[in-house]
Amino acid sequence: MVLGIETSCDETSAAVVAQDNILSNVVATQEIHQRFGGVVPEFASRAHLRQLPVIIQSALSEANIDFSNLQGLAVTYGPGLAGSLLVGLSMCKALAFSLDLPFIGINHLEGHILATTAESRQPDYPCLALVVSGGHTLLVHVEKPLCYKIVGQTIDDAAGEAFDKVSKILNLGYPGGPAIEKAATAGDSRAINFPIGLDKKNNLDFSFSGLKTAVLYHVQSLSPRELQAQNADIAAGFQRAVIDALLNKTLMALEIHNCRQIVLAGGVVRNQALRNRFQNACEKNNLELFIPSPQLCTDNAAMIAQAGTIRLQNGEKSGFDLDVIPNLSLDTKPKRKGGKS
Ligand code: KG4
Ligand code: ZN
Repeated sequence: MVLGIETSCDETSAAVVAQDNILSNVVATQEIHQRFGGVVPEFASRAHLRQLPVIIQSALSEANIDFSNLQGLAVTYGPGLAGSLLVGLSMCKALAFSLDLPFIGINHLEGHILATTAESRQPDYPCLALVVSGGHTLLVHVEKPLCYKIVGQTIDDAAGEAFDKVSKILNLGYPGGPAIEKAATAGDSRAINFPIGLDKKNNLDFSFSGLKTAVLYHVQSLSPRELQAQNADIAAGFQRAVIDALLNKTLMALEIHNCRQIVLAGGVVRNQALRNRFQNACEKNNLELFIPSPQLCTDNAAMIAQAGTIRLQNGEKSGFDLDVIPNLSLDTKPKRKGGKS
């Protein structure tokens, strides 16, 4: 049994995983950031500090176990907010030391990619992963298990960040993804044509800042009454442009890298319109799609515990010299910092 700890941004989470079974996955979303329309790092780390001990206790009691049943620990050590990551890593080290258990630092993005581990059979390799969250938009070639090469990424805003910023422009609140999705259901996604960034053949990178600016200029050209009338159409048009970009580039990457299997990961994958579009495209093109259930798309500790289980069973473990790496890359390096193997 592995206890996972995730505190990279504004979700405080702890989970217990036994092999491929998620026994508990407790996620506390910090609501303090809503009034600022985005995450305030100092508030995030303080909230983690306050909540983490309680969340860990809840994860253990929901799993019906206590500390003595654990065989290892896994914790996110990057990428993310430095202060927030430090709270999780320090707690993990303290538990590992006092319980005399091995622990492993996990790349948050690897956690997202492995989120489906407990839910479905794993893809064959090589496969492709699309990670779309608040901080990242990446196309990743997974050559073999735990071996990652980034083949495309955003050159400006992440897709989730664009959802959050456009939601702010439309006064729909934070986090923006769910708010835009809700507004879009009442809109016509073809009523307004927003541009798709870097729409060139063989370019696997993304750009969402031009789209965001196009929405801003469009909104600024409207009277308050017109804006109210068009709000749902703008949300639907924006959402379609993001999904078009993600889907087109993914299909292109599958062709270039000769893969037939695609793993979707990250908070934006909660979006039902995106899930439907990918499902339809995969059926049409005879591709196999792996999508986590919605609660495993957004940040959670079960995905970290699952990745940790795989790495600990591989014989890896981190040393107490492991430090947080706020800008940790997913590209596989020959040696893991602070690790023995
Ligand atoms: O993976 P995640 O929980 O945190 C990061 O690692 O960043 O992703 C959070 C992002 C936020 O930008 C949020 O607006 C977006 O995921 N998101 C959505 C939806 N639910 C969350 N975006 C679009 N549609 C949704 N339903
Ligand atoms: Zn995330």
